[in-house]
Amino acid sequence: MTPRPSAAGSRLIAGKLGLADRIFAGARSRRLLSTVEEGLARVETSLAHELSIADTLADATSRYLYEAGGKRIRPMLTILTAQLGDGVTDDVVEAAVALEMTHLGSLYHDDVMDGADVRRGVPSAQTVWGNNIAILTGDLLFSRASQIMARQGERAIRLQADTFERLVLGQMHETVGPGEGDDPVAFYLDVLGDKTGSLIATAAEAGVIFSHGPVGLEAAMRTFGEKAGVAFQLLDDVIDLSADPDETGKVPGTDLRAGVPTMPYLLLGERTDAASRALRGTIDDGVSRIAEGADPALLDGPLAQLRDHDATRDTLRLAHQWSQDAIDALEPVPDGAVREALTRFAQAVADRSS
Ligand code: IPE
Ligand code: IPE
Ligand code: MG
Ligand code: MG
Repeated sequence: MTPRPSAAGSRLIAGKLGLADRIFAGARSRRLLSTVEEGLARVETSLAHELSIADTLADATSRYLYEAGGKRIRPMLTILTAQLGDGVTDDVVEAAVALEMTHLGSLYHDDVMDGADVRRGVPSAQTVWGNNIAILTGDLLFSRASQIMARQGERAIRLQADTFERLVLGQMHETVGPGEGDDPVAFYLDVLGDKTGSLIATAAEAGVIFSHGPVGLEAAMRTFGEKAGVAFQLLDDVIDLSADPDETGKVPGTDLRAGVPTMPYLLLGERTDAASRALRGTIDDGVSRIAEGADPALLDGPLAQLRDHDATRDTLRLAHQWSQDAIDALEPVPDGAVREALTRFAQAVADRSS
């Protein structure tokens, strides 16, 4: 398994459309789909505009991963929950753009931290420009996101800052790992909530806030996004084991080969049978050898075994539980097309392959 950059954009956007098709499958949702598509088109136009930077290098590096593709699930969620209020207003578009830009910036940093060679089907930014430029590009995108939120006032900038703080702490806790006495699985679920749930929770809440929707639904949308975000990230861990880089736009096993733990690996570690312990030992040994310069392909076989192991099936089961918790949080949302689409959103993120 060598890194195989694919023709990014088209594949990944096809993945996004596949997700949209599922979320808006019901008869009641068809009209909602065109509203969401119009909203997403406005977000794209605005993102392209907000990403233009006078400095030639910064302009190229900032647009690089944006132009490579992406599913846009966070803006989709903001646009969806905005339907509970006044719909896709200019303020809703701005908030969605700032949050997607925050996500985009986090990808530049994440690929440096994870040593990932491929992102959105193209070589990761640091493999093109080096770590420093990749990190600075992420910083630039966070600055731009803050500038956009500042136009929306104090509450917006606080929302942005609080979310970003959680995301950063999640990445930091993932990096240092559990302390003595911490349960590794519970610790890791907190990491997932912080690094991924935080931004998806804010994306869900922002739609209600910036469309002046019912104040009473803000907390429910936050809970919904948080739980759906954890389910989404659990699937990301399973996708890390996927055999199809063309579909995922990433190199299989990136995290595990770099020694970044994922849920299938942690659940494997909880098993006491001889075969599971042996597999865990083989993976740990492979990670150490890769760190010393061995060919990362030496873990191809063990990672394929982990993909077919009960620990991965248990991860999928866990993702479905978090998805159901997200759906339960929709209880106060009035019955209708929006609630139906949000329900399907939570189901789709826990049942995806890209
Ligand atoms: C990748 O997020 C990083 C995670 C938090 C799992 P996405 O899977 O939403 O990435 P894009 O935007 O579609 O590339
Ligand atoms: C990414 O998590 C989380 C953030 C970018 C904050 P991962 O490292 O698991 O995501 P991928 O698999 O690289 O997209
Ligand atoms: Mg990563
Ligand atoms: Mg990571």
